[in-house]
Amino acid sequence: MMFKGRAIHNSGYDRKTNDFYATPAWVTEALLRHVTLRDSVWEPCCGTGAMSSVLQDNGYEVFSTDIADHGFGTPGIDVLTCREMPDGCRSLVTNPPYGDGGPHRAQQRSGSAMLNFVRHGMSLAESVRGQLALLVRFQWIAGKRASALLSSGPCVAVIALTERITWFEMGEDTNRAQHHHAWIVFDYASPKPVQPALLFAE
Ligand SMILES: C[S@@+](CC[C@H](N)C(=O)[O-])C[C@H]1O[C@@H](n2cnc3c(N)ncnc32)[C@H](O)[C@@H]1O
Repeated sequence: MMFKGRAIHNSGYDRKTNDFYATPAWVTEALLRHVTLRDSVWEPCCGTGAMSSVLQDNGYEVFSTDIADHGFGTPGIDVLTCREMPDGCRSLVTNPPYGDGGPHRAQQRSGSAMLNFVRHGMSLAESVRGQLALLVRFQWIAGKRASALLSSGPCVAVIALTERITWFEMGEDTNRAQHHHAWIVFDYASPKPVQPALLFAE
């Protein structure tokens, strides 16, 4: 599979920066119990492939990229600078790096970065009439700016995870599972008007 658009470049992004944490498999499995994805899937913040592997195990062809080199997928691709989906991909699935309740204090003041990420993901998905599934902190959804953004697109489902996530890879900083998370799912091929379903998964 070819990646149209930007050439791969050395982003200079340090793999040890504090916004990497791997998502336990059950979180992606919970998404796939409720959502069938179309065509190939782009995981643009793949890390060590925790989500990509579950998607592949469920029969999806996955194009895995990351800004940093975590030893999985194609490194050096900043999703925020990409204007197109990779060839053949009509779904984008990831755990975004910012403001989603990750274990680090820096992320907790990154609501704007999270908004930018979601807005950008929506634009990429819209360009192919595709699907977008992002894992966010459940509380984030209710914010004024976040709720306005979600309402501006075809959000077909919010899948609230009734189990709290314990993040891997964080050593002493491992999240104490204080927050609930949810998948927000957009489908640009859905007939309008779209009324999001509130679903629960564990
Ligand atoms: C929270 S981790 C999630 C990793 C993986 N998706 C998972 O769920 O296990 C966020 C990942 O986003 C990557 N990242 C941060 N900013 C990025 C950007 N602008 N473009 C692409 N990847 C980025 C980091 O290198 C990191 O691997």
